[in-house]
Amino acid sequence: MHSDQNIALRTLFVCSLLFSFVRTSTTNTLDTISPNQYIRGDQTLVSAGGTFQLGFFSPGKLTSRYLGIWYTISNEIVVWVANRETPLDDSSGVLKVTDQGVLVLLNSSNGVVWSSNSSRTVDNPVSQLLDSGNLVVKNANETNPDNFLWQSFDYPCDTFLPEMKLGWDFVTGLERYVSSWKSTEDPARGEFSLRMTPYGLPQLVVMKGAKIKTRSGSSNGLRLTGSISRPNPLSEFEFFLNKDEVYYEYRLLNKSMLSRYALNPFGIAQWFTWIENTHSWEPFFSTQQDQCEIYAFCGSYSSCNISNAPVCTCLKGFIPKSPEQWNSQNWSDGCVRNTPLSCSYNDGFFKYTSFKLPDTSSSWFDKSKSLKECKGLCLENCSCTSYANLDIRDGGSGCLLWFGDLTDIRTFQSDSQDLYIRLASSELGGF
Ligand SMILES: *[C@@H]1O[C@H](CO)[C@@H](O)[C@H](O)[C@H]1NC(C)=O
Ligand SMILES: *[C@@H]1O[C@H](CO)[C@@H](O)[C@H](O)[C@H]1NC(C)=O
Ligand SMILES: *[C@@H]1O[C@H](CO)[C@@H](O)[C@H](O)[C@H]1NC(C)=O
Ligand SMILES: *[C@@H]1O[C@H](CO)[C@@H](O)[C@H](O)[C@H]1NC(C)=O
Ligand SMILES: *[C@@H]1O[C@H](CO)[C@@H](O)[C@H](O)[C@H]1NC(C)=O
Ligand SMILES: *[C@@H]1O[C@H](CO)[C@@H](O)[C@H](O)[C@H]1NC(C)=O
Ligand SMILES: *[C@@H]1O[C@H](CO)[C@@H](O)[C@H](O)[C@H]1NC(C)=O
Repeated sequence: MHSDQNIALRTLFVCSLLFSFVRTSTTNTLDTISPNQYIRGDQTLVSAGGTFQLGFFSPGKLTSRYLGIWYTISNEIVVWVANRETPLDDSSGVLKVTDQGVLVLLNSSNGVVWSSNSSRTVDNPVSQLLDSGNLVVKNANETNPDNFLWQSFDYPCDTFLPEMKLGWDFVTGLERYVSSWKSTEDPARGEFSLRMTPYGLPQLVVMKGAKIKTRSGSSNGLRLTGSISRPNPLSEFEFFLNKDEVYYEYRLLNKSMLSRYALNPFGIAQWFTWIENTHSWEPFFSTQQDQCEIYAFCGSYSSCNISNAPVCTCLKGFIPKSPEQWNSQNWSDGCVRNTPLSCSYNDGFFKYTSFKLPDTSSSWFDKSKSLKECKGLCLENCSCTSYANLDIRDGGSGCLLWFGDLTDIRTFQSDSQDLYIRLASSELGGF
């Protein structure tokens, strides 16, 4: 009895020497911890504007504990999880930042369950929960994000928040991508991901494992070329691309709104906005569920029109590759040319105006080429099958060329962009 108390007292004493206690949740308004502080139990960090909280939670009825970030206004919406693959099995987890500027999550036997990492150190490391929902490690006086040691925005979970970047840093090789939870009660990485493909002209896609499930495409300056949804009118987006970096990012026009883009365990990406009146998250749109959104549903050189029966139609100048399969509504083999290309300047192009642009993963592009130069470049190479403007603003600029088969085309009802598909001249009815 007595010795037990002694041990407990001694432990308490040692603890209070090591850490200054973070106040409990009722009075806690801290957004930062330094190496002599920690978070455990039901203690939380609250971002300066009060939007986000960081602390421990258990999803569903499970006893597994995770360190996560959620909205203060709706704590059931967890936007980020630190130890998503390594749950704690009791409530003894402790989060601290080391003198080296590493965030560590310790279990009851002081084993490291999860940690951040950095290739640099600073004199005075702290960890701060920003009002964007970004948990960062930085020098105490640092305000420039470029100098942060580590940030949770570099390692998203299932939620793509405003001001996060989704894409690739080609210099460091870091890919920032969103991955679904395994189930609604298990934050471990699931089979779906929302990411940027780095091949050809980078595109935004939802993948199931290593396969594309739906493709939102890249930006033509006004919107994503593969998305039939209107852009969210409450936000502005940026599709940044140069040799060092490619990313997609969105910002809310009204900073006091709450909005999030989340990928659920079933692979559905949905944009939610918080509605104050009803105290609920309303979906703005979700990735379309119709057949035409299934990647390459109609095969190559075939377009998908959800209002048509059958939904798949070969492009002009193309015929079903396997007529029997095609007629029994198996479109996966797609279509082939009715007449081979001459591979000379005698080939022509048929212009489509209401298509989702085909998959650009084996495309080539040049921002400085005109549409006329683009056509010339396409004719010079026999494997070039199509061309279009890269950017459709201000009358159009830049050149985008497709090499090889054209896949994942669907018809759009409204405004689209011109796409020129290469055909043998005899198919164009000229001459
Ligand atoms: C704590 O974590 C360490 C390292 O992951 C592990 O070896 C140990 O079994 C854990 N202890 C408990 C009590 O879970
Ligand atoms: C940090 O960890 C991630 C994932 O484990 C790894 O890919 C990355 O290279 C590490 N970064 C540094 C700076 O060590
Ligand atoms: C922050 O403090 C360090 C010393 O710890 C100093 O070298 C640095 O210039 C300061 N940075 C800013 C942005 O004030
Ligand atoms: C911004 O959003 C907040 C919260 O929804 C709302 O109260 C405010 O009126 C909005 N401001 C503008 C300029 O629309
Ligand atoms: C899609 O099919 C419908 C029904 O046949 C047709 O009215 C419409 O014009 C088609 N859309 C396009 C863009 O071809
Ligand atoms: C459709 O055709 C493909 C290719 O010929 C074949 O592999 C597949 O099994 C067919 N699917 C069905 C449902 O018959
Ligand atoms: C045509 O383009 C493809 C793909 O970019 C390339 O691999 C090939 O070398 C080009 N052929 C010629 C003759 O330029």
